[in-house]
Amino acid sequence: MTETLIIGGSSGMGFALAHALVAEGEDVTIVGRTMDRLAAARAELERAGSGRVCTMGADIGREEDVAGLFAGDRCVDHVVVTAADATGVYGPTAGLATTTARSLLDAKLLGAWLVGKHAAGKVTESLTFTSGINAYRPNGSNTIMAAANGALASLASGLAIEMAPVRVNVVSPGWVDTPIWNQLDMDKRAAFADLAKRLPARRIGVPDDIAQAFLALMRNRFITATVLHVDGGHRFA
Ligand SMILES: NC(=O)c1ccc[n+]([C@@H]2O[C@H](COP(=O)([O-])OP(=O)(O)OC[C@H]3O[C@@H](n4cnc5c(N)ncnc54)[C@H](OP(=O)(O)O)[C@@H]3O)[C@@H](O)[C@H]2O)c1
Repeated sequence: MTETLIIGGSSGMGFALAHALVAEGEDVTIVGRTMDRLAAARAELERAGSGRVCTMGADIGREEDVAGLFAGDRCVDHVVVTAADATGVYGPTAGLATTTARSLLDAKLLGAWLVGKHAAGKVTESLTFTSGINAYRPNGSNTIMAAANGALASLASGLAIEMAPVRVNVVSPGWVDTPIWNQLDMDKRAAFADLAKRLPARRIGVPDDIAQAFLALMRNRFITATVLHVDGGHRFA
């Protein structure tokens, strides 16, 4: 029996991981900023399996919130971070508000660093971050997200040395059909159809594709300081 803390577990890829774990009878704690969203996710997870489901409200960009996740004597086996808010972050750099860039970096990069800082000594097996394809395929409108995602690879390898024998890795997803796309001002169906034709995998990802990659990194005890690309071949499309 394992316990996994999933920061971002109320939606998308984090929720898919929680779903896979509770279906196997494993315990999860899902974390997000919105309590209603957490409660709805918990109810759905409790119907999906026998694992215990807990919820905790926290903003990964706030140090006091992250410290609170790891307060007390409790240890967890695995921590997975999927949290990100893409609202307003895409577009040409010259037109992007600096406050928007800072809040993206606060959550996506510094938030991951805060997790490394406060999880040390409280996580026993693995810590996994989530980056993304735009670190490897910049397109002129995703530069700040690309920078945050690219830096997560270096953060993970540094923490893998510091936190050893706890293993620290990154999953880099390609395009995956999750609610994060609702934050973007675009026709996602048309964009997905267009990309799917060009991808070597000939389809867009589903959340469980990424959940299975998290599970592989959590369970393979010889993988650390690694970026696992789960992108349908998007880097080469
Ligand atoms: N979907 C894709 O195509 C894609 C592609 C490449 C990379 N990624 C990356 O994959 C990760 C997961 O994305 P997803 O598509 O699963 O997104 P999602 O469905 O929008 O889920 C994001 C989750 O993170 C939580 N969250 C957001 N900001 C947070 C914060 N500051 N503190 C704590 N929790 C926060 C959200 O809950 P609340 O809003 O309630 O806080 C939600 O549970 C992200 O890092 C994203 O950048 C996604």
